[in-house]
Amino acid sequence: TDQVLLRGRILSFTAEPKGPEDRTAYRYIEDGAILLGGGLIRATGSYDQLSRQAPAVPVVDHRPHLLMPGFIDTHIHYPQVQVIASWGAQLLDWLNSYTFPEETRFADPAHAEVMAEWLMGQLCAQGTTTAVAYASVHEASVEAFFSAAARRDMRMITGKVMMDRNAPEALRDTPQSGYDASKRLIARWHGKGRAGYAITPRFAITSSPEQLEMAGALVAEHPDCHVQTHLSENRDEIAYTLSLYPEAPDYLGVYERYGLLGPKTLLGHSIHLEPREIDLLAATGAKPVFCPTSNLFLGSGLFDDAGLRARGICNAVATDVGAGTSYSMLQTLNEAYKVLQLQGQKLHPLRAFHWITRGNAVALGLEDRIGTLEPGTEADIVVLDASATEPMALRMARAQTLSEELFVLQMLGDERAVAETYVSGVPQKRGAARVRQPELH
Ligand code: GUN
Ligand code: FE
Repeated sequence: TDQVLLRGRILSFTAEPKGPEDRTAYRYIEDGAILLGGGLIRATGSYDQLSRQAPAVPVVDHRPHLLMPGFIDTHIHYPQVQVIASWGAQLLDWLNSYTFPEETRFADPAHAEVMAEWLMGQLCAQGTTTAVAYASVHEASVEAFFSAAARRDMRMITGKVMMDRNAPEALRDTPQSGYDASKRLIARWHGKGRAGYAITPRFAITSSPEQLEMAGALVAEHPDCHVQTHLSENRDEIAYTLSLYPEAPDYLGVYERYGLLGPKTLLGHSIHLEPREIDLLAATGAKPVFCPTSNLFLGSGLFDDAGLRARGICNAVATDVGAGTSYSMLQTLNEAYKVLQLQGQKLHPLRAFHWITRGNAVALGLEDRIGTLEPGTEADIVVLDASATEPMALRMARAQTLSEELFVLQMLGDERAVAETYVSGVPQKRGAARVRQPELH
């Protein structure tokens, strides 16, 4: 058989930690093991117990590292890997000056294939095993992304960006062509292996009312698909949106009017919200997505995590590369911690690691498959070394608790702290495929 037993210190979450030391929310096994087979987790428990249960199975000894469910990035733009770190602009200028010109290059399927393949390797290097990505407007960019994910059997969600105005000609579809291409992609990919489709109107500014209406039709016809767009990231963006949709009561009212809101809807940023919009998030179950490195980089604003949570709204957290400045979910937590500090809010490491694993899985409605180490779920696992660098090792020498170790990873960790990443039970980092460097141009 293809079974393997991973040995190490095991941490997984069963609920969101309610307080700093909420022992009921997580399971920690000091000398633990995870039995993998057929791409799934077969059992999680003490090494002693599992090694007696499966004596013939080869053991990979990851001690003294921590084993956790693979990280989940709920908002990333794959055509922007060469936009990351573009200087000086806020959102609308950044889109026009850097991002839109770059995305036109994804009209070339060969370019899209190279970048998709590179990104899968990069995500694995960072311990990220699932991502929810925006592709470009081009149908072939989605093909390239899902194909690259399928080669590694990664659980990935993406969609063709729908955008028919206020962008360069080369990046515009039409209400009909955007609808048709989305339909074809859903038929070809949604539910095939680990692929999931997200209906993806970019944001209100780049879609005509006719296009949002077609997007709403897609949502009604494919209720099992995710929906992703951007909301209230930047003050100028909000003003422009309201000028384009003068009848709308507020920004979120635009998406409401076209039937785009529900529990499967992911709303990138959601920073500057009116009370009615917050009520609407709570009522529809749509999920705000916090993108801390991006919000700081573009000077967009501070996400009100505590305020939204107090209303019972479930949030996700994400990199938003290429406005985000790191592929690492650990570095994303580092910046998230600081954004919340500026508002007098706290991000405890137990909640932080719940967020990037089970929390994001819950936001996606996928907690029965990923973000967990329960038997029968998918074998996506990250192996973390909290002493990977000298600064981390020095700090760890003074650490006494699991929470301290997690906080070192949260504040100082990056891909160097990721010792290994398993996707569908297969090691991706040291064990097998290396991150391939694309040709630079
Ligand atoms: N709003 C619309 N498109 C984008 C994008 O590509 N990045 C960010 N950060 N915001 C957007
Ligand atoms: Fe974004």
